[in-house]
Amino acid sequence: ASANIGVVGLAVMGSNLARNLASREGNTVAVYNRSRYRTDELVQAHPEAGLVPSFSYKDFADSLSTPRTAIIMVQAGKGTDAVIDELVAVFEPGDIIVDGGNANFQDTITREARVRETGMHFVGTGISGGEEGALNGPSIMPGGSVESYKTLGPILETIAARAEDGAPCVTHVGTDGAGHFVKMVHNGIEYADMQLIAEAYDLIRRGTGKTPAQIADVFTEWNQGELSSYLIEITAEVLRQVDAETGKPLVDVILDQAGAKGTGAWTVQNALDLGVPVTGIAEAVFARSLSSSAGQRAAAQTLGGPSPVAVQDADAFIEDVRQALFASKIVAYSQGFDEIVAGAAKYGWDVKKGEIARIWRAGCIIRAQFLNTISDVYTENPELPALLLAPYFREHLEAAQDSWRRVVADAVRNGIPAPAFSSSLSYYDGLRSERLPAALVQGQRDFFGAHTYKRSDKDGTFHTLWSGDRTEVAQDPSTH
Ligand code: 6PG
Repeated sequence: ASANIGVVGLAVMGSNLARNLASREGNTVAVYNRSRYRTDELVQAHPEAGLVPSFSYKDFADSLSTPRTAIIMVQAGKGTDAVIDELVAVFEPGDIIVDGGNANFQDTITREARVRETGMHFVGTGISGGEEGALNGPSIMPGGSVESYKTLGPILETIAARAEDGAPCVTHVGTDGAGHFVKMVHNGIEYADMQLIAEAYDLIRRGTGKTPAQIADVFTEWNQGELSSYLIEITAEVLRQVDAETGKPLVDVILDQAGAKGTGAWTVQNALDLGVPVTGIAEAVFARSLSSSAGQRAAAQTLGGPSPVAVQDADAFIEDVRQALFASKIVAYSQGFDEIVAGAAKYGWDVKKGEIARIWRAGCIIRAQFLNTISDVYTENPELPALLLAPYFREHLEAAQDSWRRVVADAVRNGIPAPAFSSSLSYYDGLRSERLPAALVQGQRDFFGAHTYKRSDKDGTFHTLWSGDRTEVAQDPSTH
């Protein structure tokens, strides 16, 4: 028994994570893969890593010191359960099985309960940062028992990305499925962020006629300011790329149908169940679906649109788009954190919002300058009713709102779809409205279904006798 940590599943993410672990002082890494050649390949290609290969689960278990700790890096789904069964068969009580895939947090809750019965620990952990991150430092979101984190935490801290202040981007998120839940919301925010950036690009392109390379320069400039983030940075790189075959901007050659592996949809599905309006994330998921509705899009090419009104001042328009992007981004993050709060309440997790923002500052796909601010804001005031109500964010929203409204109006007038920009603005206006037409909806519900309503001027539950004399009757609370 010579290894303190093991990795099962040696595709790109698993291999990179194993190499990352091995490169940190104090770690010796055991590796196992179902088909032997991958193990051989990895061990031979990286002799410097000193990996300890095994070709059976029994040998793998024997190569680990106790409590054994192994990270499963296989494709989420059925494969994960099979590997868990194999490990449970050769591990002992007290050992720790970690699932580092993008598992559904509900599955993680089930698996944790199942493994716990054996006396072993099961930790579902989100790992973000793609292949690069796995190799050089990801943001890590582990759930599972507090006890397991005592062994696992220090190991994960050796490989996690480090923020500017040197702090490792890993924390114990909460018990059982908390880590995978938070990773799911991370991905939902990632979808929103990407869609908002894509809308900004589209508005600038169609509004000003600038080329992708020119717009790349705009994003590079934006990356110096409050929007500074990994996604803005890579956007500039993608826009600058020229296709070798055609000489055109690559973005003009790529088929405009966005794929999705499901975590964005999960974020929205769970938000619907929790009753949390994550409108920006939902629009981002649906925008991908719309883009992929190839048949309908082809058939709709003949639908009429407005005659475009040219943008007068390109620079002013671009600045408006920048403001609108930042405002919409604040909304998307605020909504994402609302979902984390609601999920934590429903599933009994003690999730620290400031900690989540802190571990998203580096390593993960949504890493951004402004996560420093979110972290500070939540650390100062964990009871904030909504992120966007923190003084820093409300000031920015208020300062941006004129630009935001102009951009959404321009988009509508010119027939340019901007679903995430406009739904974020509607959300902002919805939240700040003193009265909402929900009162009318309640009236309608009471009319056709006697669903009752409450009054704003006195306590109780009421129903109007719509099909009778239309007098109002107070409902007896004991019957409701
Ligand atoms: C990350 C990413 C990653 C995710 C991809 C795919 O945090 O490193 O979120 O985990 O799998 O981004 O997402 P889609 O294929 O659904 O776009």
